[in-house]
Amino acid sequence: MSVLAIEGLVGGYASADHIVKGVSMTTDAGEMVAIIGPNGAGKSTALKLATGLLRASAGKVSVAGADVTGASPQAVLAAGLVLVPQERNVFAALSIEENLAMGAYTTPKQVRQRREAVYARLPLLAERRRALGRMLSGGQRQLLAMGIALMAEPRVLALDEPTAGLSPKAASELFASIRGLASDGVAIIMVEQNAIEALGVCDRGYVLVDGQVVREGEASAIIADEDIRRLFLGGRKGHGQARAAPPSKPPPAGATAAASPGLP
Ligand SMILES: Nc1ncnc2c1ncn2[C@@H]1O[C@H](COP(=O)(O)OP(=O)(O)O)[C@@H](O)[C@H]1O
Ligand SMILES: [Mg+2]
Repeated sequence: MSVLAIEGLVGGYASADHIVKGVSMTTDAGEMVAIIGPNGAGKSTALKLATGLLRASAGKVSVAGADVTGASPQAVLAAGLVLVPQERNVFAALSIEENLAMGAYTTPKQVRQRREAVYARLPLLAERRRALGRMLSGGQRQLLAMGIALMAEPRVLALDEPTAGLSPKAASELFASIRGLASDGVAIIMVEQNAIEALGVCDRGYVLVDGQVVREGEASAIIADEDIRRLFLGGRKGHGQARAAPPSKPPPAGATAAASPGLP
């Protein structure tokens, strides 16, 4: 049984209710799964439907065996599935410490212990705990957004384009941190525009085109597929090869912090 199981999910917005057209996906503890696909394919919409931000018109979502189909975002979170949205995912005027406390807003128990647990998983946040959200680099902000989500002690972390706008170096460091969370047993499902890089670090992938899964399987098999490379790299084969060299292993403890661009 998968920790997250999405079956035949259909839905969209009031004005356009058939954006996601019968999508099935799974992810399991320790697994890191990528959802890639062209702009407008319905990747973000699929995550919103799965996490209760949008109401699905058909399909089923279960988290650790609990049916959360049609449940509120709060109930989905209580079941163990948390979405880190692409934007506006940290409070700019609050410190890292305060941002993490906000992540415990709906379940204000043992906040200090949970925060220490997040710091242990994402040591860079501990180093800068008094820094305000607006002082952080793009990569640090995404780490903080994940930290806020981790305060809910999720079984599944859904990430919407965590590396959007980051430099290649910051993106690969962030991927390494996410891989570390997966190694810790969190199931990861991640939408990514940096498709080849994301597949390089993930176990499995789904290719979403026009609201449907057109390809799924081992990440390495998807990367190797010529059609996929053409779709995402515009046929730039040599370039793609170079970009496809991913961080393949989780970093040793402490490596994330050491390798990250420190702020003055
Ligand atoms: N709030 C919204 N209301 C209506 N349509 C939307 C809304 N957000 C996105 N869409 C439409 O849904 C489709 C899929 O969008 P989205 O899921 O954001 O794509 P992706 O994340 O794959 O780039 C697009 O055609 C987009 O225009
Ligand atoms: Mg999107």
